[in-house]
Amino acid sequence: MILHDKNIVLIGFMGVGKTTIGQLVAKKLDWEFIDADQEIERRYHMSIPAIFEQKGEDYFRKAERELIVDICSKERQKVLSLGGGAYLQEEVRNACLSHGIVVFLDLSWENWKDRLPSIVHDRPLLKNKALEEIKQLFELRKQAYSQHHYRVATDGLDPETVAIRTIELIRERNTN
Ligand code: S3P
Repeated sequence: MILHDKNIVLIGFMGVGKTTIGQLVAKKLDWEFIDADQEIERRYHMSIPAIFEQKGEDYFRKAERELIVDICSKERQKVLSLGGGAYLQEEVRNACLSHGIVVFLDLSWENWKDRLPSIVHDRPLLKNKALEEIKQLFELRKQAYSQHHYRVATDGLDPETVAIRTIELIRERNTN
C-alpha cells in the first residue's frame, strides 16, 4: 500500500482518545487532522448533544455518514477520527476500508470504565445508562471495530506512545 495516497482513520469506542491521538499522528506526519464530530458541530452550528436532543439520533447518523463518506472518497493524507458509533454503518465502514488505513484503538473494558465520569456529560448515548448496559454496548461494538487494518492496544499507554506506535505499525507495512 502506498501511504501518501491514503487517509488514516481512527476508530474505537467513545472516550478511548481518538481525537487526541489523531491530532498527534497528524502532527507527526505533517498531515491535516479532521475530527468527524467537531466537523459536524462546525457545519451544523450545533453541539453533538444538541443535535441528538433537537434533531434526533437518525439525523446525526445521516450527517456523520455523509461527512465521512465524502471525506474518505475525496481527500488524501488526512488523519480522520470518527465518532464511536459512525463505524457501525456499513457505508462508513466500506468507505473507510477502501480509501483509508483503518486503525482500531483498543482499550480494555477494565481501563475504559474508569474514564466514564470524565466523558459522560457530553455523550448522549452514555447518559442515564447503567454500567452493565454500557458494557453491553462496548462488547457489541467490538464486532464492527474488528474490521480494521491495524489494531493498537492502548492499555497503560499515554497518547504520545500510542501515536508513535500507530505510525510505526503503518510504516512497517506501507511504503511512503
Ligand atoms: C457516539 C460517539 C461520540 C459522538 C456521539 C455518538 C457513539 O463520539 O459521535 O456522541 O455512538 O459512540 P466519540 O467516540 O468521540 O465519543
